[in-house]
Amino acid sequence: MLGRLNHVAIVVPDLAVAARVYADTLGARVSVPVDLPDHGVTTVFVELGNTKIELLHPLGAASPIAKFLADHPSGGMHHVCYEVEDIVMARDRLRASGARVLGDGEPRIGAHGKPVLFLHPKDFCGTLVELEQA
Ligand code: CO
Repeated sequence: MLGRLNHVAIVVPDLAVAARVYADTLGARVSVPVDLPDHGVTTVFVELGNTKIELLHPLGAASPIAKFLADHPSGGMHHVCYEVEDIVMARDRLRASGARVLGDGEPRIGAHGKPVLFLHPKDFCGTLVELEQA
């Protein structure tokens, strides 16, 4: 069911500083900041050969990552995103096994224009998991 690692998302307190760390210190290719108002985040994409790192910063008062940043003021790893071929089939299989799907359980369009779902960290080794239909 599980396909490739699509991205790892890291919440950061300062996007410009984080982008410089990846571009200058680590020598990676980074995008300009992209506002995603529907998701309440501003993102810098770090393009690696085999996956992406998404540097996330809250956008707007209702940002879903505002509390995470308040709890982790230095930033930290927020979620991992795995690709699946059929997100509804994956959701139904996970639910049947007792895993909790966050929200109303209906896939919504994620940061890359594809359907995504989030799974409860307590069911997945303490890590928030995003599934994206590839
Ligand atoms: Co993500």
